[in-house]
Amino acid sequence: TQYKYHICCMGAGYVGGPTMAVIASNCPDIRVCVVDLSKRMIDAWNTDELPIYEPGLLEVVKSARGRNLFFSTDIDAEIQKADMVFISVNTPTKTTGIGAGRAANIKNCELCARKIAEVATGPKVVVEKSTVPVRTADAVRRVLMANDKGIDFQVLSNPEFLAEGTAIADLQKPGRVLIGGMQTDKGKAAIQQLVDVYAHWVPTERILTTSLWSSELSKLVANAFLAQRVSSINSISALCEATDADVHEVSRALSFDDRIGPKFLTASVGFGGSCFQKDVLNLVYICESLGLQEVADYWYQVIALNDYQKQRFTRNMLQRMFNTVTGKKIALLGFAFKKDTGDTRETPAVFVAKALLDEGAKLRVFDPQVSREQMLEEFDYTCGVNETTLPGLTTSDMILTMEDAYTACEGAHAIAVLTEWDAFKTLDYKRIYASMAKPAFVFDGRNVVDIAALRQIGFEVYSIGKPIQKNQFI
Ligand code: NAD
Ligand code: UDX
Repeated sequence: TQYKYHICCMGAGYVGGPTMAVIASNCPDIRVCVVDLSKRMIDAWNTDELPIYEPGLLEVVKSARGRNLFFSTDIDAEIQKADMVFISVNTPTKTTGIGAGRAANIKNCELCARKIAEVATGPKVVVEKSTVPVRTADAVRRVLMANDKGIDFQVLSNPEFLAEGTAIADLQKPGRVLIGGMQTDKGKAAIQQLVDVYAHWVPTERILTTSLWSSELSKLVANAFLAQRVSSINSISALCEATDADVHEVSRALSFDDRIGPKFLTASVGFGGSCFQKDVLNLVYICESLGLQEVADYWYQVIALNDYQKQRFTRNMLQRMFNTVTGKKIALLGFAFKKDTGDTRETPAVFVAKALLDEGAKLRVFDPQVSREQMLEEFDYTCGVNETTLPGLTTSDMILTMEDAYTACEGAHAIAVLTEWDAFKTLDYKRIYASMAKPAFVFDGRNVVDIAALRQIGFEVYSIGKPIQKNQFI
Protein backbone atom coordinates (compact mmCIF):
# COMPACT_ATOMS: atom_id res chain seq x y z
CA THR A 1 0.00 0.00 0.00
CA GLN A 2 1.17 3.52 -0.74
CA TYR A 3 0.94 5.84 2.23
CA LYS A 4 1.39 9.58 1.79
CA TYR A 5 2.94 10.06 5.20
CA HIS A 6 4.33 8.02 8.08
CA ILE A 7 3.76 8.71 11.77
CA CYS A 8 5.39 6.89 14.67
CA CYS A 9 4.23 7.43 18.25
CA MET A 10 6.48 6.50 21.17
CA GLY A 11 4.28 5.53 24.14
CA ALA A 12 1.17 3.33 23.86
CA GLY A 13 -0.57 4.48 27.04
CA TYR A 14 -3.78 6.37 27.80
CA VAL A 15 -2.79 9.17 25.43
CA GLY A 16 -0.67 7.53 22.72
CA GLY A 17 -3.08 4.66 22.02
CA PRO A 18 -6.39 6.55 21.68
CA THR A 19 -4.82 9.60 19.99
CA MET A 20 -3.12 7.56 17.30
CA ALA A 21 -6.20 5.38 16.79
CA VAL A 22 -8.25 8.49 16.07
CA ILE A 23 -5.60 9.96 13.76
CA ALA A 24 -5.40 6.66 11.84
CA SER A 25 -9.15 6.28 11.55
CA ASN A 26 -9.50 9.82 10.17
CA CYS A 27 -6.44 9.73 7.89
CA PRO A 28 -6.45 6.53 5.79
CA ASP A 29 -3.62 7.98 3.69
CA ILE A 30 -1.27 8.14 6.69
CA ARG A 31 0.43 5.09 8.17
CA VAL A 32 0.44 5.31 11.97
CA CYS A 33 2.49 3.00 14.17
CA VAL A 34 2.46 3.14 17.96
CA VAL A 35 5.55 1.73 19.67
CA ASP A 36 6.34 1.06 23.32
CA LEU A 37 9.06 -0.48 25.46
CA SER A 38 6.36 -2.56 27.12
CA LYS A 39 5.67 -5.70 25.12
CA ARG A 40 2.69 -6.36 27.36
CA MET A 41 1.04 -3.11 26.27
CA ILE A 42 1.75 -3.65 22.57
CA ASP A 43 0.53 -7.24 22.65
CA ALA A 44 -2.70 -6.10 24.28
CA TRP A 45 -3.23 -3.35 21.70
CA ASN A 46 -3.04 -6.07 19.05
CA THR A 47 -5.94 -8.01 20.59
CA ASP A 48 -9.54 -7.09 21.36
CA GLU A 49 -8.69 -6.98 25.09
CA LEU A 50 -7.17 -3.49 24.88
CA PRO A 51 -4.85 -2.48 27.75
CA ILE A 52 -7.09 0.44 28.74
CA TYR A 53 -10.83 0.82 29.09
CA GLU A 54 -12.28 3.74 27.20
CA PRO A 55 -15.81 3.88 25.75
CA GLY A 56 -15.79 3.59 21.95
CA LEU A 57 -12.04 2.92 21.74
CA LEU A 58 -12.23 -0.67 20.53
CA GLU A 59 -14.46 0.28 17.59
CA VAL A 60 -12.05 3.01 16.48
CA VAL A 61 -9.04 0.73 16.86
CA LYS A 62 -10.75 -2.04 14.90
CA SER A 63 -11.69 0.37 12.11
CA ALA A 64 -8.02 1.09 11.35
CA ARG A 65 -5.87 -1.66 12.87
CA GLY A 66 -4.04 -3.61 10.17
CA ARG A 67 -5.11 -1.03 7.55
CA ASN A 68 -3.02 1.98 8.53
CA LEU A 69 -2.79 1.57 12.31
CA PHE A 70 -0.12 -0.69 13.78
CA PHE A 71 1.27 -1.45 17.24
CA SER A 72 4.86 -2.64 17.49
CA THR A 73 7.85 -3.07 19.77
CA ASP A 74 10.27 -2.59 16.88
CA ILE A 75 11.02 0.97 17.95
CA ASP A 76 14.12 1.58 15.82
CA ALA A 77 12.61 0.44 12.53
CA GLU A 78 9.44 2.43 13.09
CA ILE A 79 11.34 5.62 13.93
CA GLN A 80 13.39 5.22 10.77
CA LYS A 81 10.28 4.91 8.62
CA ALA A 82 8.54 7.91 10.12
CA ASP A 83 8.27 11.47 8.79
CA MET A 84 6.88 12.55 12.13
CA VAL A 85 7.52 11.07 15.59
CA PHE A 86 5.23 11.78 18.53
CA ILE A 87 6.61 11.49 22.07
CA SER A 88 3.72 10.40 24.26
CA VAL A 89 5.47 8.87 27.24
CA ASN A 90 4.72 9.27 30.93
CA THR A 91 6.18 12.29 32.76
CA PRO A 92 5.46 11.54 36.41
CA THR A 93 6.25 13.71 39.41
CA LYS A 94 9.81 13.13 40.66
CA THR A 95 9.93 11.05 43.83
CA THR A 96 13.55 11.70 44.79
CA GLY A 97 16.26 14.29 44.21
CA ILE A 98 15.88 17.97 43.49
CA GLY A 99 12.24 18.99 43.16
CA ALA A 100 11.03 15.63 44.58
CA GLY A 101 7.26 15.63 45.05
CA ARG A 102 6.80 18.57 42.68
CA ALA A 103 8.93 18.66 39.56
CA ALA A 104 7.95 16.48 36.60
CA ASN A 105 10.49 13.88 35.57
CA ILE A 106 11.12 14.28 31.85
CA LYS A 107 13.63 11.46 31.74
CA ASN A 108 11.43 9.42 29.39
CA CYS A 109 11.10 12.34 26.95
CA GLU A 110 14.83 12.82 26.87
CA LEU A 111 15.38 9.09 26.32
CA CYS A 112 13.00 9.23 23.37
CA ALA A 113 14.89 12.18 21.89
CA ARG A 114 18.17 10.31 22.32
CA LYS A 115 16.69 7.23 20.68
CA ILE A 116 15.44 9.25 17.72
CA ALA A 117 18.83 10.97 17.30
CA GLU A 118 20.57 7.62 17.48
CA VAL A 119 18.56 5.66 14.93
CA ALA A 120 17.21 8.29 12.50
CA THR A 121 18.63 8.24 9.00
CA GLY A 122 16.79 11.31 7.71
CA PRO A 123 15.08 14.53 8.86
CA LYS A 124 11.95 14.31 11.03
CA VAL A 125 9.41 16.42 12.80
CA VAL A 126 9.38 15.48 16.49
CA VAL A 127 6.17 16.26 18.34
CA GLU A 128 5.98 16.57 22.13
CA LYS A 129 2.61 15.09 23.03
CA SER A 130 3.49 14.45 26.68
CA THR A 131 2.74 17.19 29.19
CA VAL A 132 6.09 18.76 30.02
CA PRO A 133 7.54 21.72 31.93
CA VAL A 134 7.73 24.86 29.83
CA ARG A 135 10.98 24.96 27.78
CA THR A 136 11.37 21.17 27.60
CA ALA A 137 11.33 21.49 23.81
CA ASP A 138 14.65 23.29 24.16
CA ALA A 139 16.18 20.21 25.80
CA VAL A 140 14.58 17.85 23.28
CA ARG A 141 15.85 19.98 20.40
CA ARG A 142 19.40 20.18 21.75
CA VAL A 143 19.58 16.43 22.28
CA LEU A 144 18.28 15.81 18.75
CA MET A 145 20.58 18.34 17.10
CA ALA A 146 23.61 16.85 18.86
CA ASN A 147 23.37 13.86 16.49
CA ASP A 148 26.56 13.33 14.54
CA LYS A 149 24.84 12.71 11.19
CA GLY A 150 23.97 16.31 10.39
CA ILE A 151 20.27 15.46 10.31
CA ASP A 152 17.79 18.31 10.78
CA PHE A 153 14.98 17.87 13.28
CA GLN A 154 12.09 20.23 13.94
CA VAL A 155 10.44 20.11 17.34
CA LEU A 156 6.76 20.90 17.89
CA SER A 157 4.66 21.03 21.02
CA ASN A 158 1.19 19.51 20.65
CA PRO A 159 -0.23 18.93 24.12
CA GLU A 160 -3.22 16.66 24.51
CA PHE A 161 -6.43 17.85 26.13
CA LEU A 162 -8.46 14.64 26.16
CA ALA A 163 -10.07 13.56 29.41
CA GLU A 164 -10.27 9.90 30.31
CA GLY A 165 -13.70 8.32 29.99
CA THR A 166 -14.51 10.67 27.09
CA ALA A 167 -11.21 10.35 25.19
CA ILE A 168 -12.71 9.25 21.89
CA ALA A 169 -15.36 11.98 21.81
CA ASP A 170 -12.76 14.56 22.87
CA LEU A 171 -10.37 13.44 20.12
CA GLN A 172 -13.03 13.23 17.41
CA LYS A 173 -14.34 16.70 18.21
CA PRO A 174 -11.61 18.57 20.07
CA GLY A 175 -12.37 21.99 21.51
CA ARG A 176 -9.02 23.01 20.12
CA VAL A 177 -5.82 21.51 18.84
CA LEU A 178 -2.79 23.44 20.01
CA ILE A 179 0.43 23.39 18.02
CA GLY A 180 3.52 25.29 19.10
CA GLY A 181 6.63 25.61 16.99
CA MET A 182 9.62 27.75 16.19
CA GLN A 183 8.70 30.86 14.27
CA THR A 184 11.34 30.21 11.58
CA ASP A 185 10.65 29.11 7.99
CA LYS A 186 11.48 25.50 8.82
CA GLY A 187 9.53 25.72 12.06
CA LYS A 188 6.48 27.05 10.26
CA ALA A 189 6.74 24.31 7.64
CA ALA A 190 6.78 21.71 10.40
CA ILE A 191 3.74 23.31 12.03
CA GLN A 192 1.97 23.12 8.67
CA GLN A 193 2.69 19.38 8.39
CA LEU A 194 0.96 18.75 11.70
CA VAL A 195 -1.90 21.13 10.85
CA ASP A 196 -2.42 19.07 7.67
CA VAL A 197 -2.77 15.89 9.74
CA TYR A 198 -5.44 17.34 12.04
CA ALA A 199 -7.19 19.17 9.18
CA HIS A 200 -8.38 15.74 7.96
CA TRP A 201 -11.18 16.03 10.58
CA VAL A 202 -10.74 19.12 12.75
CA PRO A 203 -12.12 22.47 11.47
CA THR A 204 -9.10 24.71 10.83
CA GLU A 205 -10.44 27.49 13.03
CA ARG A 206 -10.05 25.12 15.96
CA ILE A 207 -6.37 24.50 15.22
CA LEU A 208 -4.36 27.12 17.10
CA THR A 209 -0.70 27.76 16.46
CA THR A 210 1.63 29.48 18.93
CA SER A 211 5.24 29.64 19.96
CA LEU A 212 6.72 26.50 21.51
CA TRP A 213 6.78 28.00 24.99
CA SER A 214 3.20 29.27 24.94
CA SER A 215 2.00 25.86 23.84
CA GLU A 216 3.90 23.97 26.54
CA LEU A 217 2.78 26.40 29.22
CA SER A 218 -0.86 26.52 28.07
CA LYS A 219 -1.26 22.83 28.81
CA LEU A 220 -0.11 23.24 32.42
CA VAL A 221 -2.26 26.32 32.84
CA ALA A 222 -5.35 24.67 31.36
CA ASN A 223 -5.12 21.82 33.87
CA ALA A 224 -4.39 24.26 36.70
CA PHE A 225 -7.51 26.29 35.87
CA LEU A 226 -9.69 23.18 35.69
CA ALA A 227 -8.32 21.77 38.95
CA GLN A 228 -8.77 25.19 40.54
CA ARG A 229 -12.47 25.17 39.67
CA VAL A 230 -12.91 21.82 41.37
CA SER A 231 -11.00 22.96 44.46
CA SER A 232 -13.01 26.20 44.52
CA ILE A 233 -16.35 24.42 44.53
CA ASN A 234 -15.05 21.82 46.98
CA SER A 235 -14.03 24.58 49.38
CA ILE A 236 -17.58 25.90 49.15
CA SER A 237 -18.97 22.40 49.81
CA ALA A 238 -17.48 22.57 53.31
CA LEU A 239 -19.14 25.91 53.85
CA CYS A 240 -22.47 24.54 52.59
CA GLU A 241 -22.40 21.67 55.06
CA ALA A 242 -21.80 24.16 57.86
CA THR A 243 -24.68 26.42 56.83
CA ASP A 244 -27.39 24.16 55.34
CA ALA A 245 -26.82 25.68 51.91
CA ASP A 246 -26.79 23.14 49.07
CA VAL A 247 -23.67 23.09 46.90
CA HIS A 248 -25.64 21.81 43.93
CA GLU A 249 -27.95 24.82 44.11
CA VAL A 250 -24.95 27.14 44.48
CA SER A 251 -23.19 25.61 41.41
CA ARG A 252 -26.38 25.91 39.43
CA ALA A 253 -26.78 29.54 40.40
CA LEU A 254 -23.19 30.21 39.33
CA SER A 255 -23.50 28.28 36.08
CA PHE A 256 -26.13 30.62 34.66
CA ASP A 257 -23.53 33.38 34.61
CA ASP A 258 -22.00 33.12 31.12
CA ARG A 259 -18.73 34.36 32.50
CA ILE A 260 -18.51 31.42 34.90
CA GLY A 261 -20.21 28.71 32.83
CA PRO A 262 -21.61 25.34 33.96
CA LYS A 263 -18.68 22.93 33.68
CA PHE A 264 -16.30 21.62 36.33
CA LEU A 265 -18.43 22.84 39.21
CA THR A 266 -19.34 19.44 40.62
CA ALA A 267 -18.29 19.10 44.24
CA SER A 268 -16.63 15.79 45.02
CA VAL A 269 -14.53 13.81 47.47
CA GLY A 270 -11.58 15.40 45.64
CA PHE A 271 -10.10 15.32 42.18
CA GLY A 272 -7.83 12.50 41.10
CA GLY A 273 -6.27 11.27 37.88
CA SER A 274 -2.76 11.24 36.58
CA CYS A 275 -2.79 14.86 35.41
CA PHE A 276 -4.26 17.47 37.74
CA GLN A 277 -2.03 17.06 40.76
CA LYS A 278 1.09 16.35 38.70
CA ASP A 279 0.61 19.33 36.43
CA VAL A 280 -0.32 21.83 39.15
CA LEU A 281 2.72 20.74 41.18
CA ASN A 282 4.83 21.09 38.07
CA LEU A 283 3.56 24.65 37.62
CA VAL A 284 4.26 25.39 41.28
CA TYR A 285 7.78 24.05 40.96
CA ILE A 286 8.52 26.09 37.85
CA CYS A 287 7.29 29.27 39.57
CA GLU A 288 9.40 28.53 42.63
CA SER A 289 12.46 27.89 40.50
CA LEU A 290 11.94 31.24 38.81
CA GLY A 291 11.62 33.05 42.15
CA LEU A 292 7.88 33.64 41.73
CA GLN A 293 6.99 32.47 45.24
CA GLU A 294 3.63 34.27 45.46
CA VAL A 295 2.49 32.69 42.21
CA ALA A 296 3.67 29.28 43.41
CA ASP A 297 1.84 29.71 46.74
CA TYR A 298 -1.35 30.72 44.95
CA TRP A 299 -1.47 27.56 42.83
CA TYR A 300 -0.31 25.31 45.64
CA GLN A 301 -3.56 26.01 47.46
CA VAL A 302 -5.41 24.08 44.73
CA ILE A 303 -3.57 20.95 45.90
CA ALA A 304 -3.78 21.76 49.60
CA LEU A 305 -7.55 22.18 49.36
CA ASN A 306 -7.86 18.87 47.50
CA ASP A 307 -5.94 17.10 50.28
CA TYR A 308 -8.20 18.77 52.82
CA GLN A 309 -11.30 17.61 50.95
CA LYS A 310 -10.17 13.96 50.93
CA GLN A 311 -9.33 14.09 54.65
CA ARG A 312 -12.55 15.91 55.47
CA PHE A 313 -14.56 13.12 53.86
CA THR A 314 -12.97 10.38 55.95
CA ARG A 315 -13.01 12.43 59.15
CA ASN A 316 -16.72 12.95 58.64
CA MET A 317 -17.28 9.22 58.14
CA LEU A 318 -15.49 8.46 61.35
CA GLN A 319 -17.23 11.14 63.36
CA ARG A 320 -20.73 10.18 62.15
CA MET A 321 -20.10 6.52 62.90
CA PHE A 322 -19.65 7.20 66.61
CA ASN A 323 -15.91 7.91 66.26
CA THR A 324 -14.99 4.33 65.53
CA VAL A 325 -14.93 2.10 62.48
CA THR A 326 -12.67 -0.52 64.00
CA GLY A 327 -13.83 -3.96 62.88
CA LYS A 328 -16.74 -2.46 60.92
CA LYS A 329 -17.36 -3.51 57.35
CA ILE A 330 -17.44 -0.57 54.97
CA ALA A 331 -18.50 -0.88 51.34
CA LEU A 332 -16.60 1.28 48.90
CA LEU A 333 -18.58 1.78 45.71
CA GLY A 334 -16.13 2.78 43.01
CA PHE A 335 -12.36 2.90 43.03
CA ALA A 336 -11.46 4.54 39.68
CA PHE A 337 -10.71 8.28 39.78
CA LYS A 338 -13.84 9.03 37.74
CA LYS A 339 -16.55 7.09 35.95
CA ASP A 340 -16.08 5.32 32.61
CA THR A 341 -12.42 4.56 33.18
CA GLY A 342 -10.52 1.79 34.95
CA ASP A 343 -7.69 4.21 35.75
CA THR A 344 -6.83 4.48 39.45
CA ARG A 345 -3.88 6.88 39.34
CA GLU A 346 -4.21 9.44 42.16
CA THR A 347 -7.76 8.27 42.78
CA PRO A 348 -9.25 9.83 45.93
CA ALA A 349 -10.55 6.33 46.74
CA VAL A 350 -7.07 5.13 47.66
CA PHE A 351 -6.66 7.90 50.24
CA VAL A 352 -10.08 7.27 51.75
CA ALA A 353 -9.41 3.53 51.82
CA LYS A 354 -6.01 4.02 53.45
CA ALA A 355 -7.46 6.25 56.16
CA LEU A 356 -10.19 3.69 56.88
CA LEU A 357 -7.67 0.84 57.01
CA ASP A 358 -5.63 2.86 59.51
CA GLU A 359 -8.78 2.99 61.65
CA GLY A 360 -9.15 -0.78 61.48
CA ALA A 361 -12.13 -0.94 59.12
CA LYS A 362 -12.74 -3.94 56.86
CA LEU A 363 -13.19 -2.79 53.29
CA ARG A 364 -15.46 -4.36 50.70
CA VAL A 365 -14.76 -2.76 47.36
CA PHE A 366 -16.65 -2.87 44.11
CA ASP A 367 -15.67 -1.10 40.91
CA PRO A 368 -16.93 -2.34 37.55
CA GLN A 369 -13.58 -1.67 35.85
CA VAL A 370 -10.85 -2.02 38.48
CA SER A 371 -9.30 -5.41 39.21
CA ARG A 372 -8.09 -6.44 42.66
CA GLU A 373 -4.56 -6.71 41.36
CA GLN A 374 -4.60 -3.13 40.12
CA MET A 375 -6.15 -1.85 43.34
CA LEU A 376 -3.37 -3.45 45.40
CA GLU A 377 -0.75 -2.05 43.05
CA GLU A 378 -2.23 1.41 43.55
CA PHE A 379 -2.11 1.04 47.35
CA ASP A 380 1.53 0.14 47.15
CA TYR A 381 2.44 2.84 44.64
CA THR A 382 0.51 5.72 46.20
CA CYS A 383 0.77 5.09 49.94
CA GLY A 384 3.41 2.39 50.30
CA VAL A 385 0.80 0.02 51.69
CA ASN A 386 1.60 -3.59 50.86
CA GLU A 387 1.82 -6.99 52.53
CA THR A 388 5.14 -6.03 54.14
CA THR A 389 4.07 -2.68 55.60
CA LEU A 390 0.60 -3.95 56.49
CA PRO A 391 0.64 -7.71 57.09
CA GLY A 392 -2.67 -9.29 56.15
CA LEU A 393 -3.48 -6.71 53.48
CA THR A 394 -3.64 -9.26 50.71
CA THR A 395 -4.15 -12.43 52.73
CA SER A 396 -6.79 -11.56 55.33
CA ASP A 397 -10.25 -10.07 54.86
CA MET A 398 -8.97 -6.48 55.33
CA ILE A 399 -9.82 -5.58 51.75
CA LEU A 400 -12.02 -7.80 49.68
CA THR A 401 -12.94 -7.00 46.11
CA MET A 402 -16.51 -7.91 45.35
CA GLU A 403 -18.30 -9.03 42.21
CA ASP A 404 -21.10 -6.49 42.52
CA ALA A 405 -22.42 -3.68 44.67
CA TYR A 406 -24.93 -5.86 46.52
CA THR A 407 -22.39 -8.31 47.89
CA ALA A 408 -20.08 -5.41 48.77
CA CYS A 409 -22.82 -3.86 50.91
CA GLU A 410 -23.97 -7.06 52.63
CA GLY A 411 -23.52 -6.76 56.39
CA ALA A 412 -21.78 -3.40 56.01
CA HIS A 413 -22.16 -0.56 58.48
CA ALA A 414 -21.63 2.06 55.84
CA ILE A 415 -21.38 2.68 52.12
CA ALA A 416 -18.95 5.23 50.71
CA VAL A 417 -19.62 6.20 47.11
CA LEU A 418 -16.25 7.16 45.65
CA THR A 419 -16.78 7.05 41.88
CA GLU A 420 -19.83 8.39 40.07
CA TRP A 421 -20.59 5.27 37.98
CA ASP A 422 -24.10 5.67 36.52
CA ALA A 423 -25.01 2.19 37.75
CA PHE A 424 -24.78 3.37 41.37
CA LYS A 425 -27.76 5.70 40.81
CA THR A 426 -30.15 2.89 40.06
CA LEU A 427 -29.17 0.21 42.57
CA ASP A 428 -31.98 -1.40 44.55
CA TYR A 429 -31.25 0.50 47.75
CA LYS A 430 -34.15 -1.13 49.59
CA ARG A 431 -32.52 -4.49 49.08
CA ILE A 432 -29.17 -3.06 50.14
CA TYR A 433 -30.64 -1.46 53.26
CA ALA A 434 -32.20 -4.74 54.30
CA SER A 435 -28.84 -6.48 54.12
CA MET A 436 -26.85 -3.91 56.11
CA ALA A 437 -26.05 -3.37 59.79
CA LYS A 438 -28.14 -0.59 61.37
CA PRO A 439 -27.97 2.35 61.54
CA ALA A 440 -27.01 2.08 57.88
CA PHE A 441 -24.87 4.99 56.73
CA VAL A 442 -24.29 6.31 53.23
CA PHE A 443 -21.44 8.75 52.61
CA ASP A 444 -21.80 9.98 49.07
CA GLY A 445 -18.53 11.47 47.81
CA ARG A 446 -19.96 12.03 44.33
CA ASN A 447 -23.53 13.16 44.93
CA VAL A 448 -25.01 10.32 42.93
CA VAL A 449 -27.64 8.94 45.31
CA ASP A 450 -31.13 10.34 45.73
CA ILE A 451 -30.80 11.61 49.28
CA ALA A 452 -34.52 11.96 49.99
CA ALA A 453 -35.34 8.48 48.66
CA LEU A 454 -32.56 6.88 50.68
CA ARG A 455 -33.54 8.68 53.87
CA GLN A 456 -37.08 7.48 53.26
CA ILE A 457 -35.80 3.90 53.18
CA GLY A 458 -34.08 4.48 56.50
CA PHE A 459 -30.48 5.26 55.57
CA GLU A 460 -28.54 7.99 57.33
CA VAL A 461 -27.13 9.89 54.34
CA TYR A 462 -24.26 12.38 54.18
CA SER A 463 -23.46 13.87 50.78
CA ILE A 464 -20.77 16.37 49.88
CA GLY A 465 -21.98 19.94 50.29
CA LYS A 466 -25.56 19.00 51.19
CA PRO A 467 -27.57 20.07 54.22
CA ILE A 468 -26.91 17.70 57.11
CA GLN A 469 -29.69 15.35 58.17
CA LYS A 470 -31.19 16.28 61.51
CA ASN A 471 -30.88 13.19 63.67
CA GLN A 472 -34.35 11.77 64.20
CA PHE A 473 -33.47 10.37 67.62
CA ILE A 474 -32.36 13.67 69.17
P1 NAD B 1 0.94 6.11 30.34
O1 NAD B 1 1.77 5.79 31.50
O2 NAD B 1 -0.43 5.55 30.20
O3 NAD B 1 1.71 5.68 28.99
C1 NAD B 1 3.04 6.00 28.74
C2 NAD B 1 3.67 4.84 27.96
O4 NAD B 1 4.97 5.26 27.52
C3 NAD B 1 3.89 3.58 28.77
O5 NAD B 1 3.22 2.50 28.15
C4 NAD B 1 5.41 3.38 28.77
O6 NAD B 1 5.80 2.03 28.69
C5 NAD B 1 5.82 4.13 27.52
N1 NAD B 1 7.21 4.57 27.51
C6 NAD B 1 7.92 5.17 28.52
N2 NAD B 1 9.15 5.46 28.12
C7 NAD B 1 9.26 5.03 26.83
C8 NAD B 1 10.32 5.06 25.87
N3 NAD B 1 11.50 5.59 26.17
N4 NAD B 1 10.07 4.54 24.65
C9 NAD B 1 8.87 4.00 24.34
N5 NAD B 1 7.83 3.96 25.21
C10 NAD B 1 8.03 4.47 26.44
O7 NAD B 1 0.89 7.71 30.25
P2 NAD B 1 -0.29 8.60 29.63
O8 NAD B 1 -1.41 8.72 30.58
O9 NAD B 1 -0.56 8.16 28.23
O10 NAD B 1 0.41 10.03 29.60
C11 NAD B 1 1.41 10.34 28.66
C12 NAD B 1 1.66 11.85 28.71
O11 NAD B 1 0.48 12.54 28.29
C13 NAD B 1 2.00 12.39 30.09
O12 NAD B 1 2.94 13.42 29.94
C14 NAD B 1 0.68 12.94 30.58
O13 NAD B 1 0.86 14.00 31.48
C15 NAD B 1 0.05 13.45 29.31
N6 NAD B 1 -1.41 13.49 29.32
C16 NAD B 1 -2.15 12.49 29.88
C17 NAD B 1 -3.55 12.53 29.83
C18 NAD B 1 -4.39 11.45 30.45
O14 NAD B 1 -5.59 11.63 30.52
N7 NAD B 1 -3.84 10.35 30.88
C19 NAD B 1 -4.18 13.59 29.19
C20 NAD B 1 -3.41 14.59 28.60
C21 NAD B 1 -2.02 14.52 28.68
C1 UDX C 1 -7.88 16.12 32.83
C2 UDX C 1 -8.28 17.27 31.90
O1 UDX C 1 -9.69 17.46 31.95
C3 UDX C 1 -7.85 16.98 30.49
O2 UDX C 1 -8.14 18.09 29.64
C4 UDX C 1 -6.38 16.71 30.49
O3 UDX C 1 -5.96 16.40 29.17
C5 UDX C 1 -6.02 15.58 31.43
O4 UDX C 1 -6.50 15.88 32.74
P1 UDX C 1 -8.86 13.70 33.37
O5 UDX C 1 -7.94 13.76 34.54
O6 UDX C 1 -8.83 12.52 32.49
O7 UDX C 1 -8.59 14.96 32.42
O8 UDX C 1 -10.37 13.86 33.89
P2 UDX C 1 -11.26 15.10 34.37
O9 UDX C 1 -12.60 14.92 33.78
O10 UDX C 1 -10.62 16.40 34.13
O11 UDX C 1 -11.41 14.84 35.93
C6 UDX C 1 -10.31 14.98 36.82
C7 UDX C 1 -10.77 14.78 38.24
O12 UDX C 1 -11.57 15.87 38.68
C8 UDX C 1 -11.64 13.52 38.44
O13 UDX C 1 -11.28 12.89 39.64
C9 UDX C 1 -13.03 14.08 38.51
O14 UDX C 1 -13.90 13.25 39.23
C10 UDX C 1 -12.79 15.40 39.22
N1 UDX C 1 -13.83 16.41 38.95
C11 UDX C 1 -14.01 16.90 37.70
C12 UDX C 1 -14.61 16.88 39.99
O15 UDX C 1 -14.46 16.45 41.13
N2 UDX C 1 -15.56 17.82 39.73
C13 UDX C 1 -15.77 18.33 38.49
O16 UDX C 1 -16.66 19.19 38.34
C14 UDX C 1 -14.97 17.85 37.44
